[in-house]
Amino acid sequence: MSKRALVTGGAGLIGSHLTDLLVGEGWQVRVLDNLEPNTHRRGKPSWINPKAEFVKGDLRDRETITAALREIDVVFHQAAYGGYMPEISKYVHVNSLGTAQMLEVIRENNLPIKKIVVASSQAVYSEGAGDCPKHGLVFPAVRPVEQLRQGDWEVHCPICGAITKSAPTPENAPVGGETVYGLTKVDQEKLVLLWGKQVGTPTVALRYSCTYGPRQSIFNPYTGVIAIFCTRLLNDLPPVLYEDGEQTRDFSFVEDIARANLLAADTDKLDGFAVNVGSGEGTPIRKIAEILSTLLKINIKAEARGEFRPGEMRHLTSDTKLVRGAGYKPQIGLESGIQRYIDWIKTQSNIRDYFSEAEQILRSKGIVHRVGMKNA
Ligand SMILES: NC(=O)c1ccc[n+]([C@@H]2O[C@H](COP(=O)([O-])OP(=O)(O)OC[C@H]3O[C@@H](n4cnc5c(N)ncnc54)[C@H](O)[C@@H]3O)[C@@H](O)[C@H]2O)c1
Ligand SMILES: [Zn+2]
Repeated sequence: MSKRALVTGGAGLIGSHLTDLLVGEGWQVRVLDNLEPNTHRRGKPSWINPKAEFVKGDLRDRETITAALREIDVVFHQAAYGGYMPEISKYVHVNSLGTAQMLEVIRENNLPIKKIVVASSQAVYSEGAGDCPKHGLVFPAVRPVEQLRQGDWEVHCPICGAITKSAPTPENAPVGGETVYGLTKVDQEKLVLLWGKQVGTPTVALRYSCTYGPRQSIFNPYTGVIAIFCTRLLNDLPPVLYEDGEQTRDFSFVEDIARANLLAADTDKLDGFAVNVGSGEGTPIRKIAEILSTLLKINIKAEARGEFRPGEMRHLTSDTKLVRGAGYKPQIGLESGIQRYIDWIKTQSNIRDYFSEAEQILRSKGIVHRVGMKNA
């Protein structure tokens, strides 16, 4: 029997690949997406799977979400407002309130939804776990702005202050959200998981690591470091590194993240949990710029300008034991994944640099600060 899925945000990076995977597996898929203009500046993208039903609409609209949830078995809730944009209330409205209302509608109408898989993020953590020479595995807090203003990027042990080394972050690390986006991802996963427990519907929150791949918006200068660096290089501009560029992230190729969603729908091993999904490996951001420059054969060095974003983590590598235990295994390595992204971006026309303009906005709104600045 074929299963019926609602993929919210199904025109986006992860949602569209997930839609393709589900359609390929014989699912009936409905996509709900409002084609957020920051992400889709040229309107409806060509990659929306023709075998899926496409509904253009805003999940914040009660009637729209009510209609979209009809005759659905599994909801893959991918739609969200993301990145480091300055609109505080929009995050809360789309991510937190949008999710809350969706759950309310399901309960109100007694819809027979069998499972909800919600897209969370590693942004729910405050800082990646650290390894202290004295205290072993520790969970440092976010680095204070005063420390960053002095150009001290290190993560210190919360007990003794020693410099820690990055360690894989397990799911039981404290969650908080040090950016508005992160805060609303905490809201989303907590809302879905606690609602699931209350009503007895299986729910899973997947804490994705940095996800990249073909179809990642080339218009959005606020999110997706690989896409941003790539569009900078293609415009003969240097990628801009915050801090010193040695901060590390865990990268996942989008098709692997799509497979994690299907796994979460199929297995009951992850039900009720917030689950890290990542590669388990940390890559310095500077290295990303180098890989791109080599693969693109554009010899422009990344620049670190002594700028930083308060609330940003220094290191984050996902501890992926839980998801691997349920059968997850990433299949695409970083270099081949980046090559796949480059092959795709070369098929896109008129690749502009939107970052320069965004940079000004981020500075003027106090989201990007500079070392030595008193009160940015
Ligand atoms: N890409 C990453 O690195 C990453 C990492 C961690 C978590 N996530 C999460 O994964 C999910 C998908 O992210 P993505 O990278 O595919 O982003 P994306 O921006 O490519 O896709 C999100 C989609 O949601 C749609 N959308 C936004 N607001 C909406 C609304 N109000 N109503 C209907 N549709 C709306 C957008 O038009 C877009 O197509 C998000 O929840 C995001 O927070 C992404
Ligand atoms: Zn210590």
